[in-house]
Amino acid sequence: MKKYATLFEQGGHRWTIFYFDDVKANHLVATNEYLVQHNDKYLMTDPGGTETFPEVISALGEVVDIKKIDQVFCTHQDPDIFSAIALWLMMKPNIQVYLPSIWISFMLHFGGQKANFIPLHDEGTILNLNGLDLQVIPAHFMHSSGNFHLYDPVAKVLFTGDTGAGLISNAKDFVVRDFDKHIQHIEGFHKRWFGSNEHKNQWCERVKNLGIDFLCPQHGLIYEGAMVETFLDWLYNLRVGIIEY
Ligand SMILES: [Fe+2]
Ligand SMILES: [Fe+2]
Repeated sequence: MKKYATLFEQGGHRWTIFYFDDVKANHLVATNEYLVQHNDKYLMTDPGGTETFPEVISALGEVVDIKKIDQVFCTHQDPDIFSAIALWLMMKPNIQVYLPSIWISFMLHFGGQKANFIPLHDEGTILNLNGLDLQVIPAHFMHSSGNFHLYDPVAKVLFTGDTGAGLISNAKDFVVRDFDKHIQHIEGFHKRWFGSNEHKNQWCERVKNLGIDFLCPQHGLIYEGAMVETFLDWLYNLRVGIIEY
C-alpha cells in the first residue's frame, strides 16, 4: 500500500513523499514519488512506471486534484522513473516533462509526444514553479550518464533520484534512523549501479554546502538533518564501479 507524509509545509509551499510499506507480488523495486506544491501549482518528481501507475494515481488523488499537476521532473531515463508517460499524457495531455536532453529520443520509446518533453541541458537550469525557483543540479553518472537532481533552497530539500537509494522491502518508516543498519540497503546498490568515482566525488563537493534538511532518494528511506552529512561522508569514501564475476 502506498502511503504519504508531509516533509515540509510553509504557507502554500509543501513537499509530500509517497512511499510503499509493502512489496508487490511481481518483485518490483519500490519507488518514492514526491509532490512539490507552490501556491496551487504542482510538480511531480520521477512519477514511476506503468506497473505502479494505478497505485501512484490513487495515492496522489488523496492529496491533490491530479489535473493540477502541470510539471514533471525526471532525473534520468530508467523505466521506474517514467515508463508510464503515455498514461500520464492520456490523463493530462499538456503536461510539461523535464528530461535530460541526451535521453529524450530514447525516452520517446515509452510513448508520448516530443512537444511535451523539455530538454534539460548538461549544465542544469532553474525551474520556476509559480514563483518558486527550483535548482536543477547536474548529477551526471549518478548513476545515469545524463542525470539531474532537484534542489529547493527554501524547503532545503534535495531530490536525488537513485543517489542514496536503498533497496528495502517492507519498510515501516520513511526516514533513516540508524545509518550503520541502513548501509546494508545502500552499499551494494551504489557500488554496482554507480560507475564513476570522479563524478561521484565532484557531486559530493557540489552539494555539501547547499544546506540540505532532507536528502530524498527515489527508492528507500530519506536522510534528514545530521543524517545528510553522514550519508555524504559515507558516499565520498565509497569506491563505486565495482563488479564481481
Ligand atoms: Fe536508475
Ligand atoms: Fe530508480
